[in-house]
This record gives sequence, C-alpha cells and structure tokens, in this order.
Amino acid sequence: MRIDIISVLPELMESPFKASILKRAVDKGVVEVYFHQLRDFGLGKHRQVDDEPYGGSAGMVMMIEPLDNCISELKAQRDYDEVIYLTPDGETLNQKIANTLSLKNNLIFLCGHYKGIDQRVREMHITKEISIGDYVLTGGELAACVLADSIIRLVPGVLNDEQSALTDSFQDNLLSPPIYTRPFEYKGLKVPEILLSGNSRKIEDWLHEQAVKITEEKRPDILR
Ligand code: ADE
Repeated sequence: MRIDIISVLPELMESPFKASILKRAVDKGVVEVYFHQLRDFGLGKHRQVDDEPYGGSAGMVMMIEPLDNCISELKAQRDYDEVIYLTPDGETLNQKIANTLSLKNNLIFLCGHYKGIDQRVREMHITKEISIGDYVLTGGELAACVLADSIIRLVPGVLNDEQSALTDSFQDNLLSPPIYTRPFEYKGLKVPEILLSGNSRKIEDWLHEQAVKITEEKRPDILR
C-alpha cells in the first residue's frame, strides 16, 4: 500500500511513522508513506496556498490551483483508489471504513487548514471525506495520522499473530472483553477463575459473554 499525504505542515506527521508498528510496516516495505508540502505548489514568490473567501466570511480558504496541481501531479504517476479529504464534515471514521481502506493500493490524504478547501477541489478530485469525530482540530494532520494508523495496522503482514486485529474492539461490533496478566492476585483482586481452567471452549464462551455485557453497558449503539 502507498499513502501520499498532502499538507502545509507535513512535519507534524513524521513521528507516528517512526516508531513501533507503523515504523515496522514502513521498514518492511508493506506500506510506503510520502509527504507532500503543498507550499511547493504555492503561487508566486510567497508560495501562496490560501486566500480570502468570496462572500466575505471570516478565515482563509485553501486555493484551488496549488491543490489541483499537487493532486494532478500525483494522479499522473499512478491510479489512486481514493483521494480522501480529512474534514470535520466528513463521514465519521469507524472500523468498517478502516477495514475497507486497508485493502486498497494507493491512497491520497489531503489535510485541510484554515476554513477548508475551495469547494471546486472537492468536485474535481475528492472521492471520500472523513472526519475522526465531532470536534474541530487545527488542521487535518493529526486526523490523517489517526486514519493512517487505523488502516495500516490492518494491512496484511503488518501485525503478527499475537497482535492480531481479529480480536480488536469493534471488529465484530463488540468491544473487547476484560484481559488480565500475572499476578493471579493483587491486593485482594483476583483474576476470574475461568481463565485458569484450561477449558478453551468455556473460556471463549465466557469472553464472548463479557464482550456482549460490556458492549451493552458502554456502547449499546454499536450492537446490531
Ligand atoms: N480537520 C479538523 N477537524 C477534523 C476532524 N474532526 N476530523 C478530520 N479532519 C479534521
């Protein structure tokens, strides 16, 4: 998988790909992540990328020309499955969207700034708009990292068996059951006996029951 991320602040996004699982995915060559500084496509000597909105509302708007030039240059080099704009008015990210995107080959992420992008960029290039939640960030960069992380860990070959995504919260519209490790007893708090029973069938049933119970308590909205 290849992800091209367009932004005026690419430096904000470097560290997440330099540690742990995302780093391993990049080092293994399972994913390639490229950052594109939008200012390299900016206009004039000041490399302008934003301008005042028509109609006179507050804030600045990301201009069409630098964005079109940057996206078109990428599209001329390969086919992209999706051109994704990170924006608070997009579809809210969930595990199903991450699963679907993890099967794609080439993705562009566009990080918005200021008041957003000229509407015509959406019409020309954007195929998907994603929000990471109902709150407003200073820009799309942190959202792009969240989206990339949620996708990359699902790409085949990234997680090993121990880290398997199959038992993740949300994967079956259920939250994860409780988990424990040694010691068996700590300050009077014991691990449920069933987990030491060695009966894998019973353990599996118990874990499923717990997952349903926790989901009913915490997130009844995701239960089918
Ligand atoms: N840009 C600003 N806020 C955002 C959000 N909640 N999700 C995605 N992109 C954003």
